[in-house]
This record gives sequence, C-alpha cells and structure tokens, in this order.
Amino acid sequence: MALYSEKVMDHFRNPRNVGVIEDADGVGEVGNPVCGDIMKIYLKINDEKVIEDVKFETFGCGSAIASSSMATELIMGKPLEEALSLTNQAVTEALDGLPAHKLHCSVLAEEAIKSAVKDYYDKNGIEYDPKDFPDPEVESCHMH
Ligand code: FES
Repeated sequence: MALYSEKVMDHFRNPRNVGVIEDADGVGEVGNPVCGDIMKIYLKINDEKVIEDVKFETFGCGSAIASSSMATELIMGKPLEEALSLTNQAVTEALDGLPAHKLHCSVLAEEAIKSAVKDYYDKNGIEYDPKDFPDPEVESCHMH
C-alpha cells in the first residue's frame, strides 16, 4: 500500500485555500517545536458567526499542507461552533488516513483553527472556556 493516500497527494499537490486574508476576523498561528513546522489560518466570519472565507499558509511538511488544505475545506461556510469541534481525527479521516508518524501534522491544523477562533473571540470580547483551547506547543510536542 502506498504510504500516502491519493487524497493526501492531491491536497499536497493542489492545496485549496492557500493565501492570506488581509482583513481577517481571526488569525491563528501554531508551530510544532520538534519539527519546526508552522501553520497559519485566517478566518473571515460574518455576523451570523459563519465562516465566510478561510485561508492558510503552512511552512511545513507535505502532510501538514494536505491537512491544512483539507481542514479549510471542512470548515468553509460552516458555523464557528462546527469549526471549533473539528478534530484532527476528522481531518485525517477526510484525507483517507495519514501514516502514524505523520498524525501530529493534522493536529497542527486542528490547533491552528482553534487558535484563529480564539483570536476572533478575544478581538470581539466574546467569553469562552480556556479549556477548549489547549496549549498548542504542549499538545503537538507529545504527539511526536
Ligand atoms: Fe512537522 Fe509534519 S513533520 S507538521
């Protein structure tokens, strides 16, 4: 069996939603201190708290790029709550799997989205439970 699924290869070669949203309502950046990869997510959120647009920049491995691309597709047009509940497992499943030693790359995508939502909450004075937003560095680190 090939190491990477066709979907991973497709999203790696033709990543969706790459770029920057200049007037983003929420921006999240997370890094994995072990591999040094960095992922940044930009969210445009409308008054109904629906994600109108999402873009990403990832300086990292192919799995991280494929994971961010898939994650942006999964949350595009969705209510904020749904984006918050997106797990790295859901991203991995949507990609038809990742090799075990690459699972942490999908964790970056989950955390970058959470961090962008948190930024939006902070900027708009919306209260939230800090427990919903784990420390990205600690989380990614022990996945290695
Ligand atoms: Fe670091 Fe993939 S190896 S995110």
